[in-house]
Parts: sequence; C-alpha cells; structure tokens
Amino acid sequence: IITSCVTDGTSRSELYQYPLQFPESLDRDELKASPSNLTIAGEYSLDAFLFNGSLPGPTIRKRRGERFQIQFQNDIGQESIIHWHGMIVPPEMDGHPKDVISEGNYSYDFKINQRAGTYWYHPHPHQITGPQVYRGLAGFFIVTDEEEEALNLPSGEFEIPLIIQDRKIDDSGNLYYNPSMPERMMTGYLGEHIFINGVPNPHHEVQARPYRLRLLNGSNARIYNIAFRNGHSFTVIGSDGGLLPQPVETSELLIAPGERADLLVDFSEGFSGNSTELISKEFSVPSNGGMMGNMPQMMGQGGPEQGIEFPLMKFRINNDVDSSPSINLPQQLSEINFPSRNDVVREREIELNMEMMTGHTINGRLFEMLRVDEQISQGDTEIWEFINNSAVPHPMHIHAVQFKVLNRSGYRDLIPTESGWKDTVLVMPGERVRVIMTFNAQSGLYVFHCHNLEHEDAGMMANLEIT
Ligand code: C2O
Ligand code: CU
Repeated sequence: IITSCVTDGTSRSELYQYPLQFPESLDRDELKASPSNLTIAGEYSLDAFLFNGSLPGPTIRKRRGERFQIQFQNDIGQESIIHWHGMIVPPEMDGHPKDVISEGNYSYDFKINQRAGTYWYHPHPHQITGPQVYRGLAGFFIVTDEEEEALNLPSGEFEIPLIIQDRKIDDSGNLYYNPSMPERMMTGYLGEHIFINGVPNPHHEVQARPYRLRLLNGSNARIYNIAFRNGHSFTVIGSDGGLLPQPVETSELLIAPGERADLLVDFSEGFSGNSTELISKEFSVPSNGGMMGNMPQMMGQGGPEQGIEFPLMKFRINNDVDSSPSINLPQQLSEINFPSRNDVVREREIELNMEMMTGHTINGRLFEMLRVDEQISQGDTEIWEFINNSAVPHPMHIHAVQFKVLNRSGYRDLIPTESGWKDTVLVMPGERVRVIMTFNAQSGLYVFHCHNLEHEDAGMMANLEIT
C-alpha cells in the first residue's frame, strides 16, 4: 500500500484537511491556456498550464442541440490544440494534431449533436499531449438532455464531477514530469500521489443521501479499480457515452485513462460511521511477455506500478439531515439501439505491438501526421478487433464515434461500464477486444490512439479517414 505524501513525513490523517474544490463553470466564451505558478493546499507548487487559471479547467455544461462557440487562446508558448473527448464534431473542430497553433486563437463552433454524457476536453498536440495534460490542461464537458433529466438524478451540489490524476512530487514539493526512457516506451508515467480535481487526497462532506459521482480518469497512464474501503457497493448508471441501458450494481470498477464512469452512491445506506474512503483497489495486470511490463520498476525508474492499492479521497457523512431523499431508478435507464452485427460491412484487426527499436505501434507503424491508416465510408458499420500483443495495458480511444464493446477474449469479461456507449476501451496484455460502431461523423481526418499519453506521444496513434 502506498500511503500518500510520504515524502515530507506528513501523516495520512493530516492530509485529509483539504476540502475538495469543484471545477468552476465556464461563464466566458474564451478558453485560454496559459502558464501559471500555482500553490496547492499551501504545500505543493506546480509549474502549471491552466485553462482560464483554473485547475482543473472550467466545467462546460451544454444541452443537446445547443451550439457551442468558443475561442481557444494559446499562451503556453508551445504548440497546442483542443480535443473534445467523446464528442462527435466536424474534423476541423476535433483537435487533430495537424491543427495545432503555437500562439493566437483557434475558433471552435459546432452543434452538440449527441446524447447526455460526461465528456471532457484536453490538448492534443503530437508528442506533447502527455506533459500538457499533466501540467493541468483538462476539464469536463457535460452534456445534458431530456431523456436524462426525466430520471431526476441527483443534481446541483449532489452531482460531483471528479477528475482523478496521479502525480509525482519532488523533495521540495514541486510537481514534476520527467519520464525515463522505459516509462515513455513501456509503462507510461505513473505518479505516486493522487490528486482529485487538482487537490491532493481530498475530503468532501456529504449528506446521508444519494449522490451522483461523475468519475473521469484523467491520469496519463494509471488505471484505477474504484471501490469503497469497506467493500460497499455502488450503482453504475453511465459510461463514456452517457447512460447505460440498465443500472448495474458493483463493488469495484476498473477505469483506465480517458474513460468515465457515472456512479450513483447512496451515503444513507450501509455506510456505518460517519466517513468512508474511496480507494483504488488492488488488481492484477496479466503478464504477456515476461518482465517487460515491469522494466521501469526493475530499473528503479518508475512510479509505483499498475495495480497496487491507493487511497483516493474521503467522504465525511453528515447524518443530521432530516429527510434523505431516495432515488427510484427505473429498471430501464435509457433506450439504446446499438449497431447490429447484420449491418457490419467490414472487420478490421488493429494490432498493438511492442518492438525494441520503435516502442509501441499500431499495426506495426508509428504515427505520421497525414498518412491515412484506415479509410472508412461514411455511414458504415464496422467491427474493430484490438489485439494486444504487448506486455502492458492499452486504453484504446477512437475519435468521431461511440462504440459498443462486443466481447473480450482473455481472462476478463466485459465490465459494467461496457454495457453502454464507449469511446475508450481497456485492452490488457494478451487480450483481444472487439468493438462495433457506425461512422456517422462528417467526412475528413480523425485519429485513434492509445490513451496512455506517453504511448500516444511516442507515436501509438493512427489516422482514420471518413470518406
Ligand atoms: Cu482524450 Cu485523442 O483523446
Ligand atoms: Cu498504450
């Protein structure tokens, strides 16, 4: 067990003194990325890049059907561009790495044409996405619609967006990003301290009643296995692309970089005492190729490895509320018509390999800015099979589409979030995962890639063209 913040000798109980800050809502039509020197909780200092001075970036909330217009002003002194992760937008609005700007403005203007869900935004420049997200450039993009509103889910202060990120801190309390060669090539950059909404291991006071927790794994490389310390169960109601067809009760849930999980947690039931802790529970990463996946640790160059237990945050439960509203979730949360296998016009195999000279590749190749790797006719339904022949996990993300995970061969079954729409799927070493989707986005160039940001930066990305 890694306890948080062991570097300065602070005990864990003292560390829970920081109240959780919510990402503020955006009230301007400008998203400005600029460098900033930030002190967090009087303890950590951070040479950060921030959107509108806020960590995480301001939360954008829009309704389905609305138009979204924003100016992105880049003041960070290096190339950048914003991608709206999970949103289906025209190609020139999607933040393709070829559209980077190194200063000035980029205008975004598109219609929100998709169902309610927890989406997010972050930079997407080739080779430097990892450090830019790590330094603070990420925020929520929440879409609402009628179908979801009809469910009367907890809202306002009872709906909490939580972006989970792991960080490394040096001896003087500064956050730093400095991946070694094996971290870049193998594991990605794994931190040893958990920050949620930019706050180290926060606590939050809740009432004894149901809450909606919108989780986003905004970490560069770390996978979490969400659970409560006492094993209490919770209800999964949504995933990357919004509500699941049915609620699913579980007591642990894997969430990989880029993925979201929409949870309903009832703090009035079964939590004895007046606090509870959200943790990442231990899990195993199958080995496929011996020692390779643990190379950075063996060389003494990595953060704590994947799969070990971490405390995430604490909830203090206030039991002094008179009436605790209960939630009557219907059996059916939403109606989804997933694409049918009968409509599939093409199946593709997407191989994820590791070679000593190149690092991780997609179908044997590294990213090239304008090379078209997969060409798809607009409107086609396809099945893609991700085949992980490497020794480390790859959360694979496809732009411009939401897909349904069909099956996974290997030791794992589908997990609760995979009963809904997804845009990112975890492919463990040795696994083959099949997804089905219909490409209805506007024609043009988009990317798909591993959302382990060090892998992506090292070239584990490819272009898909809708024609
Ligand atoms: Cu969240 Cu192409 O990325
Ligand atoms: Cu990867």
